[in-house]
Amino acid sequence: MGSNDVMAPLAAVPVFLDLRTASANPADELRASLAADAPFIAPKFFYDALGSRLFEAICELPEYPLTRAERRLFERHGDEIATRAGIDRPLVDLGAGNCAKAEQLFGVLAPSQYVAVDIAADFLRERLGELALRHPGLPVVGLAQDFTAALALPDVVQPGPRTVFYPGSSIGNFAPPAALAFLERTREACGRGGCLVLGADLVRDKRALDLAYDDPLGVTAAFNLNVLRNVNRCIDADFDVADWRHVAFFDSVTARIEMHVEARCDVAVRWNGGGRRFRATDRIHTENSYKYTLPGLRALLQRAGFGDTKVWTDEEGGFAVAVAAV
Ligand SMILES: C[S@@+](CC[C@H](N)C(=O)[O-])C[C@H]1O[C@@H](n2cnc3c(N)ncnc32)[C@H](O)[C@@H]1O
Repeated sequence: MGSNDVMAPLAAVPVFLDLRTASANPADELRASLAADAPFIAPKFFYDALGSRLFEAICELPEYPLTRAERRLFERHGDEIATRAGIDRPLVDLGAGNCAKAEQLFGVLAPSQYVAVDIAADFLRERLGELALRHPGLPVVGLAQDFTAALALPDVVQPGPRTVFYPGSSIGNFAPPAALAFLERTREACGRGGCLVLGADLVRDKRALDLAYDDPLGVTAAFNLNVLRNVNRCIDADFDVADWRHVAFFDSVTARIEMHVEARCDVAVRWNGGGRRFRATDRIHTENSYKYTLPGLRALLQRAGFGDTKVWTDEEGGFAVAVAAV
């Protein structure tokens, strides 16, 4: 490099801990869920390198308004969110993904530390490196962790009161009893005087919900089917994506979106330690995404032990952001 060349800034390396193997054995979990009477793949397996990027693409789709609605709610109510949550506290982002939503709130929350938790270790590490460059004064911690197995915050995370951030309606991936248990653990992580900032998708028109999970470009279909490639890597399986199709629909009785992959023909699949035959039209359940009513959301937070709660909705009433105090 010549003396006049401009050096790119060195990436500030945030503290990054990979805690995934401490809490779960994904291969055993997959083998058991694929062998079950009603086979399923847990949604956390969507998020390999391609899956994480496909999720970012889904957020750009006109049929998937959740991300834009949440952004507008944070823009509009950021100051009040900060008044309720408090400033200068550790901000713990659960399922941080590309960290963009939390970063939007840095200006109002002025966090004392940013802690991003996600199962997608490589994607998180990459995005955190970029984020740390944009916020050189902010202590940044990355935790690669499966928070459905445990929500363990190591000592490097500043003590409470903390603001725990859980946007994107990821709470909807849990069936109601599991959502309650998860929120109880989250309340513990907040500590006394802390709070939860939660984003949730609300029950709305079935046609709109169906389209949000089955868009005409097929981006969500690619996201769903890509899970089979991740399974192939995790347990050395031989799923051929071409043998499967994407199925997604809103079920108004259970108030949830269901996503499945459905066999297009009879197929036999092998994996390390087992295998299974699927008949044409057999399905593997890949995701539930429960939608909430406002009273249902408030009741859930209350049952999980949260106190004073403020909820904002977007103009169409399809999305909610709640700030719930411990
Ligand atoms: C629907 S995306 C939401 C991303 C971002 N928070 C947003 O709202 O746009 C879910 C994120 O949670 C992560 N995730 C899913 N299951 C997880 C688990 N069991 N433990 C930790 N992270 C998980 C995924 O890797 C992904 O980044």
